[in-house]
Amino acid sequence: MSLPGTNDHPGDYRASGCSSCHVVYANDRDPAHSAGYAAFGHSGTSATVDPTIDRSQSGHPIKHVFTRSIPSSQCMVCHMHPGTNMLTTYFGLTWWDNEIDGDKMYPAKQKNPSEEERYRSSLKNPEAAAARGLWSDDKFLEQTGTPEFNKQLKTTRFADFHGHGWLYRGVYAHDRKGNWLDKEGKQSCTSCGYSPRKGDAMHGLSLRAGQSWKRKSLWRATRRSRN
Ligand code: HEC
Ligand code: HEC
Repeated sequence: MSLPGTNDHPGDYRASGCSSCHVVYANDRDPAHSAGYAAFGHSGTSATVDPTIDRSQSGHPIKHVFTRSIPSSQCMVCHMHPGTNMLTTYFGLTWWDNEIDGDKMYPAKQKNPSEEERYRSSLKNPEAAAARGLWSDDKFLEQTGTPEFNKQLKTTRFADFHGHGWLYRGVYAHDRKGNWLDKEGKQSCTSCGYSPRKGDAMHGLSLRAGQSWKRKSLWRATRRSRN
């Protein structure tokens, strides 16, 4: 708590001490986590009117003020260990296992990083697989949580924040054979975990908006099957 964030990825932008919670930074564009702050993006840029602050530079608070309106995205900037900890489970997420939908995450031809490349990658992401994957590239990593990127995934959806350079994925209800279940606990669309119903326009549209809706209903389905 006494150190500021590393300020190098979405999900790592923060101050320290009292301001680590009370001064809000733009870290996550999902309104389910950031509420009214979602519109300010995920790149730690400021929306201040102060002319001395560079608004295109990452690492500045949205506004240079203390607030009592603290979004849960502001807790996530510290509580990322071990990826299954209280914040991600509250969001309906868990650490990506470095495998699911891996065809979109590794280069087509296996990359064998040199010692120098491994070292460079570990400065930003302490997890060793990153040196082999595409997500060691900040530009690639930043867009993994967008609807455009998520749309091409078969099995999961990534979150919009990447504290420590990590990836967090949605957790969806499925049966013991791996079939996705809808909110009634019935089998649903195998490729995306969503079951389209008559008059329902969610399928294929905004994944971010659809995702929270989906998570909520799947959570209910899971609860029902447990009871
Ligand atoms: C871990 C996050 C966190 C840290 C660190 C933190 N706060 Fe808070 N603080 C909160 C939250 C959450 C609230 C409740 C906001 C609300 O009203 O919903 C709050 C409320 C407050 C309030 C308002 C109390 C009221 O009666 O409305 C004050 C004042 C405050 N904090 C001061 C501080 C000071 C000073 C520090 C540093 C010593 C600090 N906070 C550190 C999370 C934090
Ligand atoms: C600046 C980093 C930071 C931020 C931001 C932060 N926390 Fe924490 N939090 C910590 C640390 C470090 C600990 C462990 C303290 C210890 O064990 O002495 C902790 C502990 C906790 C615990 C106790 C966990 C346990 O197992 O005992 C809870 C609950 C918690 N935080 C909730 C929150 C919530 C809610 C927010 C957002 C309002 C938040 N934290 C924001 C750093 C942070």
